[in-house]
Amino acid sequence: MNTIERHTAPLSEALRIDLTEFWSNIFQTSFADLQVVLAGGEVGQNVDIILIAREGATITATCHLTVSRLNPRLGGLGEIATAPQSRGKGLAAQLVERAIVAATASGCTQLVLGTVNETAARLYAKFGFRYLPGTRVMLRNADGTEGLGSAPFDRRDIKIVAGAPCHRLTIIPPILTATDHAILDANVELLATRLADQTSCMGLYPRYERLAKKGGQWFVAQASNGLTIGIASVIGVTSGIAQVDGFVVPKVGADVLASLFQAAILWGEAMGFAIQSVCGVDDLNKRAVIVAQDSGYEETALLTIAGHPVPILRFSPKRGRLL
Ligand SMILES: CC(C)(COP(=O)(O)OP(=O)(O)OC[C@H]1O[C@@H](n2cnc3c(N)ncnc32)[C@H](O)[C@@H]1OP(=O)(O)O)[C@@H](O)C(=O)NCCC(=O)NCCS
Repeated sequence: MNTIERHTAPLSEALRIDLTEFWSNIFQTSFADLQVVLAGGEVGQNVDIILIAREGATITATCHLTVSRLNPRLGGLGEIATAPQSRGKGLAAQLVERAIVAATASGCTQLVLGTVNETAARLYAKFGFRYLPGTRVMLRNADGTEGLGSAPFDRRDIKIVAGAPCHRLTIIPPILTATDHAILDANVELLATRLADQTSCMGLYPRYERLAKKGGQWFVAQASNGLTIGIASVIGVTSGIAQVDGFVVPKVGADVLASLFQAAILWGEAMGFAIQSVCGVDDLNKRAVIVAQDSGYEETALLTIAGHPVPILRFSPKRGRLL
């Protein structure tokens, strides 16, 4: 007989240890990235609800729901797992159903999750999740429609802000949205979905988190309704040189992309770096933004991003600006 518990971050240390052990055994990866979240380190930015099935004291299944406080219409599911001996009894289905109810109660109308597991995908499809084209990410719109849609936003009220945990969920839709750019952000190995399937969902934010831990910085173009409409990042790549890259969603003007690049360039220069930028060879919009920033020598090259060779233009710093 299984019972279901609902916990909201912050979780006790004992529960964090039990969950981490449970997930590590099933997924065979480290859950170090998640510790801050489970300990309540993001309670001001996101709501994290963990649903746990137990048989006696033993954890048999879990499901983790994250709802963005910046854009409460958006939520994500992760850590959906059932212990091998408890599979096929409907536990995952019960927890996903409860998670959808909890998400709906928080005003969440769009739920995303990433999966390459066919058993899991069939289960999610029963609850209305559908794969987004060019991704291994499934989306469930509460109104039954398909696709991410494009919520309207006020073009006069867009802020460029430093990337933060409040963007954990909001960066997912723009990364999965078809765009003019070939490379979205070379610094975190993000390609457009038309070039390579995007297999990550809740794993996208941790890429930027790791970039920041390695001494880089990233910026978000944020609409007043909480939507993320573009991202740029900067990180040291070779001695004295930092690489800048970024993207905006379709229909957002080059001025927003330019503002994002400028934020990243200014940050890199303030840290004492000369700046190098890259873009896909056919990415005329990004090239125009880079050229307007007077970014140095243009050369063509082949860059391997996420295992895919992509022809690029690299704008290396002018010699005079090298340190
Ligand atoms: C995917 C997973 C969570 C499903 O958990 P579960 O508790 O067994 O799922 P449920 O019992 O609710 O069953 C869901 C569906 O999968 C089927 N299923 C579950 N386990 C199965 C198994 N071992 N063999 C065949 N089918 C299985 C069920 O028959 C059910 O389909 P149905 O409704 O058509 O009968 C579980 O297999 C798992 O933990 N896998 C490893 C971790 C993972 O990949 N998680 C998904 C990450 S997105």
